Order: sequence, then structure tokens, then C-alpha cells
Amino acid sequence: MIISALKWVGNKNGFLEVVDQRRLPAELAKLHCREVKDLYDAIKTLAVRGAPAIGVAGAYGLVLGMQKSAGGIQEGISALEKYSGYLGSSRPTAVNLSWAMERIKQRAKRFVTENSDAKPEELHQIIFDEANAIYREDVQMCEKIGRNGQGFIKDQAGILTHCNAGALATAGQGTALSVLFEAHKNKKRFKVYADETRPLLQGARLTAWELQRAGIDVTVICDSMAGWLMKQGKINAVITGADRIAANGDTANKIGTYSLSILARENKIPFYIAAPSSTFDMNIKSGSQIPIEQRPHNELSFWGSKRIVPEGVDIYNPAFDVTEAENITAIITELGVIENPDTEKIETHLQNLN
Ligand code: MRU
Repeated sequence: MIISALKWVGNKNGFLEVVDQRRLPAELAKLHCREVKDLYDAIKTLAVRGAPAIGVAGAYGLVLGMQKSAGGIQEGISALEKYSGYLGSSRPTAVNLSWAMERIKQRAKRFVTENSDAKPEELHQIIFDEANAIYREDVQMCEKIGRNGQGFIKDQAGILTHCNAGALATAGQGTALSVLFEAHKNKKRFKVYADETRPLLQGARLTAWELQRAGIDVTVICDSMAGWLMKQGKINAVITGADRIAANGDTANKIGTYSLSILARENKIPFYIAAPSSTFDMNIKSGSQIPIEQRPHNELSFWGSKRIVPEGVDIYNPAFDVTEAENITAIITELGVIENPDTEKIETHLQNLN
């Protein structure tokens, strides 16, 4: 059964329950976020992670914020600004987080403009309804991405994926892994290689866990092995998710994705990105404008509680990199497929959004 990474419990005064992904695969534990600060910490420490999932979480974060907002409507609107700024600062690369919170704020402002005598309780309900809509739409987008992309998975193929773009990373069944789930549902037989994804091991801990639960043949490899497997003919396609896609198709995803795209091109292997329309940032022309999150040094210098880098040695730990559009064979969205993406094709593709 596909796991639910996050779910709201109760009415607008309820709380957000998330799977604590830091504890997988050893333990399937849930975390209850009742305060905005709880959610900020959960996002920052990757208890909840993956671009679409943190977008949905951010939307519910504003519902939590409204629970604490005392006073009138204007105080409510100010609280939305304050909490969206705070939550948005937790992880800068995935655009879905700011996209979802911006959508909530726009909805709130529209409501207030149209209802001059609105009560704070009503504003809170409107925000809760919008967060629920974002959640439901994400579930649907994931399914559509899977259906739109499953044709790229050929029978008997070897598929390489990086990081985790599965159900754990979304409200639904994932993006890149949704394509694999749909192909599996269609009785295709294929083998997945999951990069372990240093330093936080989302591939080894999360992708392998999800695929094994789904009964899909999965093998974990070190990140540094990918090129050699390609050379040996074991990989027929690479598919990953995305954290932000610039207007020209340049795509930020987990560190290591860029290297895979170069290896794929060198070995003449198709390289696919699967992502919802909420991951496109049409305000930036190219990938050079995507902010790259820098993570704490101890993620590299320690293996659990054991130091593995000598004290005093410098560490560099960017969490994401950018793959140029020219290295991407196709981007799969809920709206269809953009082959050899460029600005014009992406603009046309997104015009189909209602
Ligand atoms: O640091 P993470 O684990 O949040 O990074 C996640 C990724 O890079 C995913 O590939 C991306 O967010 C897409 S998830 C559908």
C-alpha cells in the first residue's frame, strides 16, 4: 500500500500529522505538528521533505498560524505574511513551498476584498479549504504524472533514480516513483537501481523502502557507481524528481542529479524529470537564478554519532544542483510530456493550466 507522507487531522483547529522520515526505514513513526514552529523544525530537519510535500505542509502551516492569530481580519492577513516568511526560510530551493503559501495568501486577500465584514473565523476556514484543495490537487497530479510517464518504462528495462521522489515526497504517490508505480500496475517487469544519495541517504532509506513495499525489484547502489552501471548496459533510463524548474527547463534537484545527466548523455541514455506544474518557476529565466540550499557540515563529517572527517577540515554541503535543460530528454508533468524542453515549449505546456 502507498504510504501517506502527511495528513491533516480534524477541522481547522486540528493538526498536521507527518511521517517522520528521519527514522525510516528502521521505524514508521508519526510526528504531530501543532505549532508553526513544530512544522518549521520538521521541514528544516527533513522529517517531512520532497518539494511537493513541503508545499502542502507549508499550506497547512498557515492554517496552524491562523489558529494562534488573535484579533481581527487585518491581524489575520499580517499573520499569514509573518508565518509564510518564517516557513519559507526553512528550505529555499524547492519552489513548491513558496508557491503553496503564495496561493493561500492570494486566496485570503481575495476573500477579504470580496467580504468587507468577514470574521477571522471565516478567513481561517477559507485558508483551511484552500490548503485541503492544494492537498487534493497534489494527489491527482501525482497520479496523472505516473500515467503520462509510464510509457517511458520499457519491459525488462533497468531504471536509475536518485534521492526520493515517491509518495514520501508528495501528498500522493510521488512523481518519478509514480511513473514506476504505474508501469508496475501495467504489469511491466523492470529493475530499479536506487542511488543511495549521500549525505542523507534518501535513496537507500526511503526510495528502497517504498519500492520494496510496492513489490518492485530494487537494488541500492552507491552514488559513485552509476556511471559504471551505465557503461555496463544495466541502465536504460534515468528518472528523477525536481525541486524547481526555471522557465528554460533548467532543473534543480538533489545534489548528484547533474552528474547523472552528464553520465546519461555520455552513455546515450534518456534522462527524464517528473514534476508537477507547481515545481515550475516562470519568474526565473534559467537555473543560474535558483537558490541552492547549503546544509549543516555535520551531515558529512559524521556517520551517525561517529566522526568520519578529521576535525578542522572544511566541508562543503550544497543540497541541490542544477541540470541544464539540454541534458533533459523530457519533463513529465500532470499535463503531459515536454520533450527537449525549452522556454517556448514550457510556456505553451503551462498554458493548459486552468
Ligand atoms: O532534500 P530533499 O530530500 O527534500 O530532496 C528531495 C529531492 O531532491 C526530490 O527529488 C524532489 O524534491 C522531488 S520530490 C517529488
